[in-house]
Order: sequence, then C-alpha cells, then structure tokens
Amino acid sequence: MPKLSLCDLPAWAGLAAKCRGLPASQALRSLFAADSGRGERMAAEACGLYFDYSKQLLDGESLRLLLDLAEQVNLRRRIEGMFAGERINSTEDRAVLHVALRSAPGDAYAVEGLDVTAGVQEVLGRMASFAERVRDGRWTGQRGKRIRGIVNIGIGGSDLGPVMAYEALRHYATDDLVFRFVSNVDGTDFSEAVAGLDPSTTLFIVSSKTFTTQETMTNAGSARAWLLASCGGDVAAVAKHFVAVSTNAAEVSAFGIDPGNMFGFWDWVGGRYSMDSSIGLSTMLAIGPERFRELLGGFRAMDQHFLTTPLERNLPALHGLITVWNTSLCGCETMALLPYEQYLKRFPAYLQQLSMESNGKRVQLDGTLVECPTGPVVWGEPGTNGQHSFYQLIHQGTHRIPCDFLGAVHSLNPHGRHQAMLLANMLAQAEALAFGKSAEEVAAEGTPARLIPHREFPGDIPSSTILYDRLTPSILGSLVAFYEHSVFTQGVVWNINSFDQWGVELGKVLAGQILPEIESPTSPELRHDSSTNALIRRIRAARNPA
Ligand code: F6P
Repeated sequence: MPKLSLCDLPAWAGLAAKCRGLPASQALRSLFAADSGRGERMAAEACGLYFDYSKQLLDGESLRLLLDLAEQVNLRRRIEGMFAGERINSTEDRAVLHVALRSAPGDAYAVEGLDVTAGVQEVLGRMASFAERVRDGRWTGQRGKRIRGIVNIGIGGSDLGPVMAYEALRHYATDDLVFRFVSNVDGTDFSEAVAGLDPSTTLFIVSSKTFTTQETMTNAGSARAWLLASCGGDVAAVAKHFVAVSTNAAEVSAFGIDPGNMFGFWDWVGGRYSMDSSIGLSTMLAIGPERFRELLGGFRAMDQHFLTTPLERNLPALHGLITVWNTSLCGCETMALLPYEQYLKRFPAYLQQLSMESNGKRVQLDGTLVECPTGPVVWGEPGTNGQHSFYQLIHQGTHRIPCDFLGAVHSLNPHGRHQAMLLANMLAQAEALAFGKSAEEVAAEGTPARLIPHREFPGDIPSSTILYDRLTPSILGSLVAFYEHSVFTQGVVWNINSFDQWGVELGKVLAGQILPEIESPTSPELRHDSSTNALIRRIRAARNPA
C-alpha cells in the first residue's frame, strides 16, 4: 500500500479548508465577539507556565482538527518512543534521550536495555563536587590562588545554552566569579573574553561534544597559549586551569586536559539539547548545585507533563501544533520570540538553534521531499526594545509574523512602576496585533482621509502569551523543555528528523579547502567559482602586499 502523505491525512485536508475559509480581515475580532469565554478557555497551565493561545487564528474546529492531526501522525506513540530510548535519530542511528538528563530517583531511562540514569547521576555528582570546590575556593590555580574568572569555550549548543542560562539566572549567580563565553573563531571574541582576566585565577571550560569543532579547538588552543605565556610555559598549569566537557575522552587527553577533569555526556544528547548535561557546568558554577537541581526539576516537570497530559491540555503539544498551523498552513515564514524579561535576552538566540537546526529540514524520514513549509525562521529581541525598532513591520508590514510573548508577573528587580509598565506593554502589543484598528475607527478620531491608510492597523497577527510568576531556575527549566517538546511535536507532524544537522557540513568542508588557499605562501591554483576565486585573490593580495 502506498505511504499516506501528510497532505492525504483527513485532518490536514480539513485544516487546509479552514485556512482558506478564514475571513480576509478581522477574523480575531469575530472569534472573540462570538465567544466571550475564549480568552480563558483557549489557555492551559502547567509547571508554573500559563499559556494563552486564544489570540491565534484558530476556531474550535481548527483546534480539534489539529488535535486530530496529532492522533493521525501518532504523536503520542512517537513521544513514548523518544522517552523509551528508541533510536529516533535515524540518520545517525542514535537514541534521543535528553529527558534522562533530568531524571529523578525512580525514573527509568535506558538505551538498548541499558540503564542510563546511574551515569547521569554520577556525572551530576562529580560536577557538584567540582563546582563546590571552585565556589568555596578549595580548587585553586597553579599558583595556589582562588579562581575568579570562568571562561566557557564552546559553540552552538555548547555555547548558546550556557550563555542563555547564565544570563537568565544571573540573579541567582555568585558575585565571587566572573563569567565569560567565547564561541566565534574571530580572534576578537577570544581577546574580549579574556580582557581584564588574570591567567593565574582563570579557569577555562572547554565544552564540545565532539572535541573536534574547529572554532572551539582554535579558541582552546589560544587559551592554552595565553595561560602558558603567563607562567613561563609550565604545561603543568593546564591541569589546574582547564577542564573539559565532552563525549570524546581521547581528544580531551590529546589536548592535555587531565581525564579526571573531564565531565562526560553521551551520544544520545544532541548538542542543542545539552544545556542540562555537563555542558551546563558553567551554569552550575554560577548558581550552585542546589539551584542547578531546581533547574533540572523544572525540565522534568515539563517532561512529565508532555508525556502524560492529554494533548488538548498539553502545553508543548499545543504550541507545536499551532506552530505547524501558522507555518505550514497559514503561510507564516517566521516567528518572533519576544521576552518581556531582560534576563531572557539570549533566549531568542537559544531558540533559534533549537528550532532552526532541528526543523530546518526539507526531506522526510524516508528521504522524500516534504510537502509543505517546515521550521519557521525564529528571531526576536526583548520587549520593550523591539517596540521601538521592528514592531512597526509586525503591525503594518506585509508579512504575517506570529509572536510568542513571554513575561513574569513579578520582577526579580522591582523598581517603582517598571514591572507594571513592562506588563502593560506586553499585553498591549498582543492586543494591538490581534485586533488592530480599522479604517472606520481611525476616521472616527477625525484623522484626515489621506492619512487613514497610514494609520490603520490590520490586526489578525496571531500571538501566544506565556506568563509565569517570576523567573526561577525551575521556571527556566520548564520553559526550555516546553520549547524542546514543541519543536519535537512539529518534527513529528512534518515527519522529519529533528535531531540531525547535516546542513552544517558542506560549509565546514569548503572552509577546510579555502583556509590553506588563503594562508598559502605561494599563489595556489583556485578551482572555485569565479566569485569565490576573486575574493580569495583579493584577500591574499591584501594580506601579502608586494
Ligand atoms: O553546528 C553544528 C554543531 O554540531 C551543533 O549541532 C553543535 O551544537 C555545535 O556544532 C557544537 O558542536 P560540539 O559541541 O561538538 O563542539
């Protein structure tokens, strides 16, 4: 029997029809006018997150069809498969078990029948004892001085999670340590990261799942040289000033880091799903082991919610299905993540990798082309700054951009009316995007006719609002897991592998060819296209003036 494609599923056909039937304007006004309880009914709550999706362009039937779609793609079964350690990353033949990283006593996670939770707890214990020793000054540098600066060297998932979590949880971080993060192979990133640090009190964490990533290994080499230059080349200093987080013990040793100072993780943890593994060592150093456990507790609460809650009340499943609706059926190519929480300023960058590296795919699991647009372009900035920059385009431009608003009821830094103002702005933006301002309303204000089109707001820009009480480690964990599982849900519907990233390979290979051509002392034979050849020649000429 031929394979049933997504577009052949009854729910998909129904959804496509619903989408075509959406009124050309003021759909949200009509939906709210027809149902006074909509704002409360189209919301769900779990793990400290209140998720309001009532301002999405969905009526009750569309929502039911999305839930039917989830049944028809066997979402429930696929969730269970992930939690059961099945090798769902089919192109790399790996299990995908980041949920095991936040397991609690009594949870059972296994790959090929082998328990993985004991190993997780063992590494967490080693991380905790190391973090305590650094935080209380028992771990010293080569000259016996207490560590004052921590520099995480990593890129992608080995950087974005640690940076985002550090920024998000700064309120809980110790003042005794300074944290820096280096990712870019641009030497400026390294220089700025170590600026003002004293090598004798600096500890580098080299974070790399593979321990072969060009950027990270280059930065780690420069860090090593920086340290050794300060201590007369005494290589024994490396053991006191470098630790590694990796799955590759052989490469860690080859770099000169004592394997005793390596914190491992496993091939069933994808890079962009690793901030709660030992990749989170910098987070634990900043907030301490206890609060790191709270962070993991928040992740776990959302995992359990995702695994056990019926889909109609399941936050990540709903969010994922709504993202599919917006992206694949309503033609929205991007989505904006708008945290009204300064501590979450790096959350959009974090979600960019989580979503775009996971679901930026054009073929299905069997290698055939997908039949609809997949992963949206994710972008965003904290509110209210964005309001004074790009919101104009969201309100009155020609793209329809679904928005996620994130905000806390209580600030961790209360100052006068700031938090009320912040929240008022967040709610006002969602309201304005949804309902706009019609030409009649603009005219009724006495606006001259020639200005009416300029001052009209079309509305019908869909958004969700995610509200929580205050930002704690546990809330952050739940928030990250919410998006992880939303991304998973989307991938299941699109029938793609959300856990590989072959699209990063070609550029790496070509860079490997171009590097020696740029550095060659003699004019190399160039076999690229004429544009690349000309650029290489130009760079070479400027680097090697006659
Ligand atoms: O960009 C590709 C990628 O493999 C990401 O998936 C990953 O997070 C990043 O590179 C870093 O990889 P590693 O931790 O192995 O250095």
